[in-house]
Amino acid sequence: LKLGVLVSGGGTNLQSIIDHIESGYLPAEIAVVISSKEGAYALERAKKHRIPAYVVKRKDFDSQEKYEDEMIELLRRHHVELVVLAGFIKVLSPHFVRAFPNRIMNIHPALIPSFCGKGFYGEKVHEAVLNYGAKITGVTVHFVDEGTDTGPIILQRAVAVEDDDTPDTLAARVLKEEHKIYPEAIKLYAEGRLEIRGRRVIIKSKRR
Ligand code: GRF
Repeated sequence: LKLGVLVSGGGTNLQSIIDHIESGYLPAEIAVVISSKEGAYALERAKKHRIPAYVVKRKDFDSQEKYEDEMIELLRRHHVELVVLAGFIKVLSPHFVRAFPNRIMNIHPALIPSFCGKGFYGEKVHEAVLNYGAKITGVTVHFVDEGTDTGPIILQRAVAVEDDDTPDTLAARVLKEEHKIYPEAIKLYAEGRLEIRGRRVIIKSKRR
């Protein structure tokens, strides 16, 4: 399974996917990494593992569509079969999503439909969880559809909120779970075990 990983920041999810491929757990290959930002540490991680990596910046294009076409073209050129958003913070329009129908995964650091949607990304998610006084938060891996954080949910994992949590301590605990659940979701996809029935994703048992 050829993956295209889109990043914007530190790339710890990218690193986890790389590690799970190299350990033999995940039967996949990262064909290309695309960063929305120059200097994202995720690019260093890709370089270290000799993964082709590109920076494609929105401001270098005079429209969202042209920006997305550049990424679509890059992904197609590398024969990508599944697009993995890993800490990617740019909004992708229906134009991009339609190029890879049910072939884009995203990870959200909360239990969708809580604390998600426009404006709920990175630190802001954990601040909202703490401000609300929620006792349980978690991680969600989902297919990307034309909305924001609204696609069919693949896997979720709960993470306890501790009384003395700050956004940073909570983010760190959630991130650890992300690093486990994302390779798991991609592996299920690679094994052809994810079946989308309307809004639900059914996980088929291991083929005998
Ligand atoms: C983190 O906020 C994580 O929860 C979310 O994207 C951000 C950075 O992830 N998925 P990464 O370290 O760049 O993978």
